[in-house]
Amino acid sequence: MNKQRWNPERYREDAGFVPVLGQPAVELLDPQPGERILDLGCGDGALTGDLIARGAEVVAIDASPEMVAAARARGFDARLADGQVLAFAGEFDAVFSNAALHWMTAPDAVLTGVRRALRPGGRFVGEFGGAGNVQAVIDAMTATFTNHPEFGVLRLPWYFPTPEAYRKRLMAGGFRVVTLGLHPRPTPLPGDLAAWLAIFADAITSHLDTEQKRCFTEETTAHAATKLHDVKAGWQVDYVRLRFAAVLCD
Ligand code: BEZ
Repeated sequence: MNKQRWNPERYREDAGFVPVLGQPAVELLDPQPGERILDLGCGDGALTGDLIARGAEVVAIDASPEMVAAARARGFDARLADGQVLAFAGEFDAVFSNAALHWMTAPDAVLTGVRRALRPGGRFVGEFGGAGNVQAVIDAMTATFTNHPEFGVLRLPWYFPTPEAYRKRLMAGGFRVVTLGLHPRPTPLPGDLAAWLAIFADAITSHLDTEQKRCFTEETTAHAATKLHDVKAGWQVDYVRLRFAAVLCD
């Protein structure tokens, strides 16, 4: 699997809606003044700032050096770390994550690390892609890859579980589930689907040459347009969020 690369400037321009629409997860977390919180997969720190503004003391981590640099540039305690091998022990009142857990394809390893990072009674609250997330985009990419055997096998770098499957994992990982559900959230894009693919499908196309990438974008966009594009409303992607709050069992 090729590694996903991130460009914070491009992300802010064409995916700035990600932290904005992450507010329901922040509300569910309900950070309190003085709480020590781990922001797992902080990106450029847009939501880290919201948690700090509410009085929390936040350690932010991300697997992308570029995103960590962007979060540090905002003045935050941001560290380069893989969420699947967390090294914290008993130091956080809560672990929070928005739009990041679906990039971590070893969910049990994440839960083991989150459990270890929390203090007794600590909470794990977050939101990420659930079953059916961006399915119309996946269908369009599948059609393009089927049409071009020379592109190789389509390997998706995402984990989009059903609520039942994730609930089971949380419970097996030592958590009591407070709330957990799927929330379909069709999301208008500020730009077009080509810009979205350039940000989010980087790992899927990084083995292709420049002409193949152009062809991938053109054909995928054409396939997806029937479901996701409207002349008046523009592009709207079929996001489905899995939002949850869980508490560490004694
Ligand atoms: C998301 O649900 O945030 C997402 C998932 C895969 C690619 C891009 C975004």
